[in-house]
Amino acid sequence: MSNQPHGGTLVNRELEGQEREQAVSNAESLKTIQANPWVISDIELIGIGGFSPLAGFMGQADYENVVKNNHLADGTVWTVPITLSVTEDEAEQYKIGEEIALKGEDGIIYGTIKLEEKYTYDQKLEAQNVYGTTEEAHPGVKKLYDRGNVYLGGPITLLNRPDHGVFNEFYMDPNQTRKMFADLGWKTIVGFQTRNPVHRAHEYIQKCALEAVDGLLLNPLVGETKSDDIPADIRMESYQAILKHYYPAERTRLAIYPAAMRYAGPKESVLHAIVRKNFGCTHFIVGRDHAGVGDYYGTYEAQEFISQFEEELGIQIFKFEHAFFCTECGNMGTAKTCPHDKEYHVHLSGTKVREKLRNGERPPKEFSRPEVADILIKGMQQN
Ligand code: ADX
Repeated sequence: MSNQPHGGTLVNRELEGQEREQAVSNAESLKTIQANPWVISDIELIGIGGFSPLAGFMGQADYENVVKNNHLADGTVWTVPITLSVTEDEAEQYKIGEEIALKGEDGIIYGTIKLEEKYTYDQKLEAQNVYGTTEEAHPGVKKLYDRGNVYLGGPITLLNRPDHGVFNEFYMDPNQTRKMFADLGWKTIVGFQTRNPVHRAHEYIQKCALEAVDGLLLNPLVGETKSDDIPADIRMESYQAILKHYYPAERTRLAIYPAAMRYAGPKESVLHAIVRKNFGCTHFIVGRDHAGVGDYYGTYEAQEFISQFEEELGIQIFKFEHAFFCTECGNMGTAKTCPHDKEYHVHLSGTKVREKLRNGERPPKEFSRPEVADILIKGMQQN
């Protein structure tokens, strides 16, 4: 089982020591681009190698190949554009070949880009091909339509990693996770993406996978999410509780995935798998409606989509059907393992669960562990 980085080498676009100090002081006199939290998370992930083999924001050849053919220009599988947008007016100010500082709203220069290309792009085409819809009601498409019309391409240098505040103790870069897996003696590792609390269905599929591999990396996304998703700080507390009470400590680790959520369903499932491969995972879970939103994608569309790239991806995909608690079986299962009718299956929609939590009510224990429910109730009532 290989856990080679995507494209073969772990990218490192970060400067250290004196070289970094010099670059930080030079950056003060550069033209700047205002970087929002999404852009900052992209700079970080490129810089630390999470997005290997990308060394910067995509140029036109990579961008168009990704949008139209699900591959970078050199033929490496990649399905979600990683781009830096500006308006046409802003683009005028920047010259090809120049170094530009990427500055956060907090005044911190997170990195620089060496500008190689400026190009216009077709927003509708990107929306349709990446998100499967051109509707503005889709949160990822809405973000896309809010962007400027010009993309700037070129390699970046990471000068300052963002501060992850209360999550810092769960922050690890790909070198660190790889070393941790080696130290633990784990040869096979399953990565789990989530933007939700871990409910019984999540727990079930993680543990099914854990029966077959050495370790589980619970790797929740903590970057930008839509406003009705449960905030990351509450989720992080709930992950620690469920791990403490229900998981074998020596076979599980929790680390944040500091990226923005795109809600691109099938296309994002491939991005999620690639990143976990870069962090050293050998396996990745894709369950029902992975990275989905509303009813934009079919329940198993992400599984079908990712299946065509499995060989090229170099990370094994564990696919799970919709999981539920069956009151007749008295345990968790899926249509593959439970013979009973739907009326015996405990099912709650996300909206229903959030409503219960806001009212201070625990969802049934067949749906959510009480330790998790209590943290969510407390968190939802404070928000
Ligand atoms: S996601 O946007 O990060 O995919 P979520 O946190 O709900 O959302 O899902 C995390 C992973 O668990 C995804 O792979 C998803 O497909 C899977 N999953 C969520 N709920 C279920 C379920 N009831 N049965 C099977 N898989 C599920």
